[in-house]
Amino acid sequence: MNPLNIGNLRARLPIIQGGMGVAISLSGLASAVANAGGIGVISAVAIGMTESDYMKNYREANKRALKKEIRKARKLTNGILGVNLMVAVTDYEDLLTVSLEEGIDVMILGAGLPLKMPKYVLDKGFENIKTKFIPKISSAKAARLIFSSWAKNFNHVPDAVIVEGPLAGGHLGFKKNDLQNNPESLESIVEKTVEELKVFEKNFNKEIPVIAGGGVYDGKDIYQIMQKGAKGVKMGSRFVTTEECDASIKFKEMYIHSEEKDITLINSPVGLPGRAIRNKFVDQVNAGKTKPFKCYWKCLKSCDSKNVPYCIAQALHNAAIGNMDEGFAFAGTKAYLATKIQRVSEVVFELKVDYYKMKYKEYLRSFAGTKIVPEQINIPAIFPKIQLV
Ligand SMILES: Cc1cc2nc3c(=O)[nH]c(=O)nc-3n(C[C@H](O)[C@H](O)[C@H](O)COP(=O)(O)O)c2cc1C
Repeated sequence: MNPLNIGNLRARLPIIQGGMGVAISLSGLASAVANAGGIGVISAVAIGMTESDYMKNYREANKRALKKEIRKARKLTNGILGVNLMVAVTDYEDLLTVSLEEGIDVMILGAGLPLKMPKYVLDKGFENIKTKFIPKISSAKAARLIFSSWAKNFNHVPDAVIVEGPLAGGHLGFKKNDLQNNPESLESIVEKTVEELKVFEKNFNKEIPVIAGGGVYDGKDIYQIMQKGAKGVKMGSRFVTTEECDASIKFKEMYIHSEEKDITLINSPVGLPGRAIRNKFVDQVNAGKTKPFKCYWKCLKSCDSKNVPYCIAQALHNAAIGNMDEGFAFAGTKAYLATKIQRVSEVVFELKVDYYKMKYKEYLRSFAGTKIVPEQINIPAIFPKIQLV
């Protein structure tokens, strides 16, 4: 696999681990993926729920917890670390500023268009900030909007872009109706986005890698999406069933025990559809049951907190700590393929083996109709020895 280059950052494994909230990907998972050569990502959304005073000091608790997790992760790895932040959260500017102050390597901005930057960035200037900015989008049009806006307002454009297709877990950037009726494929969005960004690459004289996510689960998926122009992949679900993932074992077991038919769409109170594993909680809310709750603060800008049937942040955190009766697990389309808990290093090894098997198959196919006997070629020179990281 070719390394993923984002400006002067070089990840020897072209995999960004999807940021997963609430409290699913913290320092444990992020540092393990970074140690394996990929980019490990801490999810910032409602991260303060891991602090005992969240209900009273939510804003401060979020900032404190994020800082703590970044510092903890740094102690566990010298690899590349990122923070995933939803543009839709009320304390977007606070959490973005904390991440930048902590010198995070990569900032992934999704669930909304990141068109505004906090004072910290405007005062300092992009040229004096080492963090790489990566918006997460679900259409080439959204990429154009963000890049044009940044070019005009900041005379600067993001360093890479993550394209998330319709098969992803968590909140989705598609209408539910579109998801159910043949949505545009990840492959197609990747190809269009690569085209869309060419003009910005030229105007700003930099490479802008497109990274693809959503339903990327094995080495074959990685190989195939890279043939469409992706320079890296983003994987969430695959890393949930690892020892290092920060969620409770009960959350991971939901994945292991799930079947294909259990992966379903929900209407999230955030106003977006989400993909999750069916359980009692999901069935009840899908059937119109409400789960009364007290909203301590409106943590999501778009949440109609007085009228929504349940608190999504609370439900996701309950699930993360193993209280599955009071919450549910977000999961991608392929999450049901999980059969066991593995170390991150084992997952990465399997991904590499499957990737190279695919590459080798293509390689053999390329000799069809020629007189060359592929077996006589020095295969090890072409396919580097795969090492367990
Ligand atoms: C359990 C879970 C929680 C997630 N939480 C978030 C989140 O808080 N913010 C976000 O932007 N994306 C979130 N995502 C999306 C992931 O970052 C990633 O883009 C997605 O998992 C990719 O699809 P895959 O699961 O098929 O690999 C979540 C996904 C999962 C599975």
